[in-house]
Amino acid sequence: MPPDDDALLALAREAQTRAYAPSSRFRVGAAVRSGGATFTGANVENASYGLSICAERNAVVAAVLARQVPLDEVAIVSDASPPASPCGMCRQTLLEFARDPATFRVIAVNHQGERKQWLLADLIPDGFTGEELRKG
Ligand code: THU
Repeated sequence: MPPDDDALLALAREAQTRAYAPSSRFRVGAAVRSGGATFTGANVENASYGLSICAERNAVVAAVLARQVPLDEVAIVSDASPPASPCGMCRQTLLEFARDPATFRVIAVNHQGERKQWLLADLIPDGFTGEELRKG
């Protein structure tokens, strides 16, 4: 039985408290779901700024290491208003592991009760999936 949105959002909220963001002070938590399994991530920055890793990608990596892909959904928590949507790199990474981008939900919230929701296919339309590699 998959957890409901509130449960996934609660995991993302908890993950946000683990963020390491001394450079930007922009703390992000994410939780991905694969069936009934969930995995969390937070952004982890570096003094060499370009090395910073987003919350969403850290959550995806955790799921991959647990061999719990493909993924069905991601919840993201930040302090942004409106709630922050995933960056381009994270959209591409989510696409790689999405069970179906047309039904994969991306939910973003902040602590003011604002909520945004998209389908991954709308955030990265006509994305590069690797099918092209096999046809080339
Ligand atoms: N960040 C995320 O964790 N996820 C996103 O989708 C956007 C940006 C992080 C990266 C960096 O640590 C901080 O937010 C500011 O860009």
